[in-house]
Amino acid sequence: MKQLKALIMAAAALVAAQTFANTEAQNDKIRERIKPVGEVCVGAECGGAAVVASGPRSGEEVYNGACTACHGPGILGAPKNGDKAAWDERLAKGLDESLAVAIKGINAMPPKGNCADCSDDELMAAIKFMSGR
Ligand code: HEC
Repeated sequence: MKQLKALIMAAAALVAAQTFANTEAQNDKIRERIKPVGEVCVGAECGGAAVVASGPRSGEEVYNGACTACHGPGILGAPKNGDKAAWDERLAKGLDESLAVAIKGINAMPPKGNCADCSDDELMAAIKFMSGR
């Protein structure tokens, strides 16, 4: 009787071991299956332009991250990226004045073009990038 009990325990242990001993490959598959459908990411994690540890972002990076949505297609009267004539008109009053407008926002142009963590220098770089300066 004692032996039978031991045998049953051993068999049960074996079954349990086989059931739970997944290979790494199986585990990967399971992780793949149960991973969340959408993942929230912020800034650089998303491949966006935000927060690069090494110094200020280039005008192109800022533009791609924050300005392109409006200044790419030129929606709501936004001067288009690379449209020199449109930008010349805007910048006739002076680069610094336009920077001040960009920081404050104007009409459909949100303050800082929605790049809340952009420095003035980064905004200026983006303006120069878009206007081809
Ligand atoms: C939500 C759309 C939107 C985004 C995002 C946006 N802009 Fe604009 N921007 C506009 C619109 C619209 C105008 C024209 C506003 C007007 O004069 O009525 C404008 C105008 C400007 C001007 C001209 C200001 C002047 O002197 O008249 C500058 C400079 C500018 N944007 C810079 C930027 C920069 C830099 C970014 C990114 C950091 C940015 N914008 C992001 C919509 C946007």
